[in-house]
Amino acid sequence: MTYQNLILTEEDGILLVTINREKALNALNGQTMRELNHLFAEDAPKRANISGVIITGAGEKSFVAGADIKEFLNLDSKGGGAEMAQFGHDTFFLIERFHKPVIAAVNGFALGGGCELAMACHLRIAGEKARFSQPEVNLGIIPGYGGTQRLIQCIGKTKAMELLMTGDMIGAEEAHNLGLVNHVVPAGEEVAKSKEILQKIASKGPIAIAKVIETVNAYAQHDVDGFAKEVEAFGEVTSTEDFVEGATAFIEKRKADFKNK
Ligand code: CAA
Repeated sequence: MTYQNLILTEEDGILLVTINREKALNALNGQTMRELNHLFAEDAPKRANISGVIITGAGEKSFVAGADIKEFLNLDSKGGGAEMAQFGHDTFFLIERFHKPVIAAVNGFALGGGCELAMACHLRIAGEKARFSQPEVNLGIIPGYGGTQRLIQCIGKTKAMELLMTGDMIGAEEAHNLGLVNHVVPAGEEVAKSKEILQKIASKGPIAIAKVIETVNAYAQHDVDGFAKEVEAFGEVTSTEDFVEGATAFIEKRKADFKNK
């Protein structure tokens, strides 16, 4: 696929994905959603040399200002909305279940589908000018890309219910206090901080990182017993060469050299 709205750059084993529709504040139109889906379904899994992914928005003003409202009126009243939401869910599950860490470097507005995209990532680094909201009720709709579920997972039902019903916008500090973002950094340093964290994670056992993602995600999967998943995953990681290396390196007081085996 030729990407029209995503810019991909690889540096130091990290894939930087920039959503590039600055004039529309990087709103997620259908084309951009198809590109994100392809990226995480087909492209990123084949990039064996990357240790993680960063998603950010072009320009200084916006991460992603939501789904593209200008495409809304084209929605077929007979199921078009459900189809759009299902594709969004499928795409964001690909991100959430990607076996390598994905960080949202939130450089501005993260509204509606933008906040939902950030929440589908494993970690969120906010610039101090970042703004978050689920403003769908202003349009007479509800979040359609997982926001009603992931906002509760991130900040709890009490505050999620308020933000979802009022559509209120919150700043980076409040988002941090609520547990919606991991760190707040000066504007412009979101990607650098994300890289620093990915580099730290890259020094760990990659199979263990993949299993952390899988087992933590199991918490929110109602058809999966997360504790049983952890027992299974623990059995798998303790059968790897990386586990032997990690434990041996600790005993020998040296840095582990993990081989992803
Ligand atoms: N969709 C399409 N275009 C958008 C957009 C969106 N979500 N958000 C902004 N834009 C466009 C504007 O229409 C404008 O384009 P034009 O220059 O062609 O008019 C351009 O981006 C710049 O935006 P503004 O002039 O509005 O900039 P501002 O600084 O005055 O306001 C803003 C910024 C507060 C983010 C405002 O643009 C806004 O409220 N945007 C909509 C946010 C929103 O409601 N998002 C949720 C969408 S629904 C959703 O996401 C559902 C879901 O769960 C999947």
